[in-house]
Amino acid sequence: MIFTVAIDGPAAAGKGTIARTLASRFGFAHLDTGLLYRAVGAKGGDPVAAARGLTEADLARPDLRTLAAGQAASRVAVIPEVRAALVEFQRRFARQPGGAVLDGRDIGTVICPEAEVKLYVTASPEVRAHRRWLEVGGDEAQVLAEIKERDRRDMGRAEAPLRPAPDAQVLDTSTLTIDEAVDLAVRAVQARLEGR
Ligand code: DC
Repeated sequence: MIFTVAIDGPAAAGKGTIARTLASRFGFAHLDTGLLYRAVGAKGGDPVAAARGLTEADLARPDLRTLAAGQAASRVAVIPEVRAALVEFQRRFARQPGGAVLDGRDIGTVICPEAEVKLYVTASPEVRAHRRWLEVGGDEAQVLAEIKERDRRDMGRAEAPLRPAPDAQVLDTSTLTIDEAVDLAVRAVQARLEGR
């Protein structure tokens, strides 16, 4: 069965949790596509060469989840040649037999516009900053400033900017618990699998 769930949205909106839960619930493979850009940013040197030569070991680095790695990822992600180098891998992953969930910024718009389910998971910058701050600590105002800077860059770039696909279901998690958000996502997938 070919079945793709595309989950897009800004940083710290809850995409990762929803994607992981859907994958284990339905037995789908999961790809956190942000990790690809984080690995390219963390490698240093020429980002285009880094993207073309990305390896499993690059994706296993322990320092990819930091705020700094997120900023570096967002900066290399504006480069069209970097994005182009990562497209084929993501497309193959999305259409593998058995089903796949991908979360990122351009999955429903560019990587897999034919995805069977498209979710756009969002929340206010303040709510997202608070969640991220609970994970990483430090100065909450600084975390909010970084989230806003990343939103501006990810939404404002010329190539594959972050925006909901026209046929995406928008899930605003500002006033939802994570369980409620996951439940809505599970129902969206179930409805499509049952042909509703
Ligand atoms: O989802 P994340 O926070 O790990 O993503 C890090 C950065 O990578 C994000 O700010 C922009 C970029 N990115 C992208 O441009 N396209 C994707 N599909 C995923 C991430």
